[in-house]
Amino acid sequence: MSKSIAVIVGSLRKDSYNRKLAKVLQEIAPASLSLKIIEIGDLPLYNEDIDGDNPPAAYTRFRQEMAACQGAIFVSPEYNRSVPAALKNALDVGSRPYGKSIWSKKPAVVITASPGAIGGFGANHHIRQSLVFLDMITLQQPEAYFGGVANAFDENGNIVPKSKEFLQLIINAYADLVNKLA
Ligand code: FNR
Repeated sequence: MSKSIAVIVGSLRKDSYNRKLAKVLQEIAPASLSLKIIEIGDLPLYNEDIDGDNPPAAYTRFRQEMAACQGAIFVSPEYNRSVPAALKNALDVGSRPYGKSIWSKKPAVVITASPGAIGGFGANHHIRQSLVFLDMITLQQPEAYFGGVANAFDENGNIVPKSKEFLQLIINAYADLVNKLA
C-alpha cells in the first residue's frame, strides 16, 4: 500500500513556481508514495493564547491532515535568504500542543526553488535547522536547490525534461528513504 505523504508549499501566491513543482512531484512520484498538498495559507499566526482547549479550526484541520500523513515534502521559495513566514508558521502550528507534534520521526525532504541561481540555499538550510529540532528524518542527499525555476516550464506550462529529471532524482531518493524506514 502506498504511503500518504504531505506536500507543503511555502508560497501562497496563485501562480507560484513552487506549487507548480509540487504538482509535478505528484505526477512523477513512485507508486509507493501518494502525495497530497496540505494547505497552510489559512493558518492564523501562531499564538499560544488562542491554542488552548479550543484552537482555531484551521489549526485542527492542519494537524489532523498532517497526522494522517506518514511523511512530508517541503517545496518552498526563499524569502530574504530565509524561510517564508507562512511555512515557518505551519511548522510552529504542527509542533504544538507540546508533546503532540505531528512532525516527529517522519521522513522529510526539503526542495527550495528560486528564479535566482542559488536555488534558495539559505531557506533550504533554515528549514532543515527546524526539522532537526522537530526530529524529522530528512533526506541529506541529493540536495535540492532548484535554481532558474522560471526556465523550468515551457510555453505550454509543461515541465522541461532536464527539470523533470532533477525532480525525479529527488523524489526517487525520498521514496527510497521512506521505504527504508518502513
Ligand atoms: C523573494 N525572492 C527571493 N529569491 C531568492 O532567491 N532569495 C531571496 O532571498 C528572495 N527574497 C524574497 C523575498 C520576498 C518577500 C519575495 C516576495 C520574494 C524572489 C522569489 O524567489 C520569487 O518571487 C519566487 O518566484 C517565489 O516563489 P513562488 O511564489 O514562485 O513559488
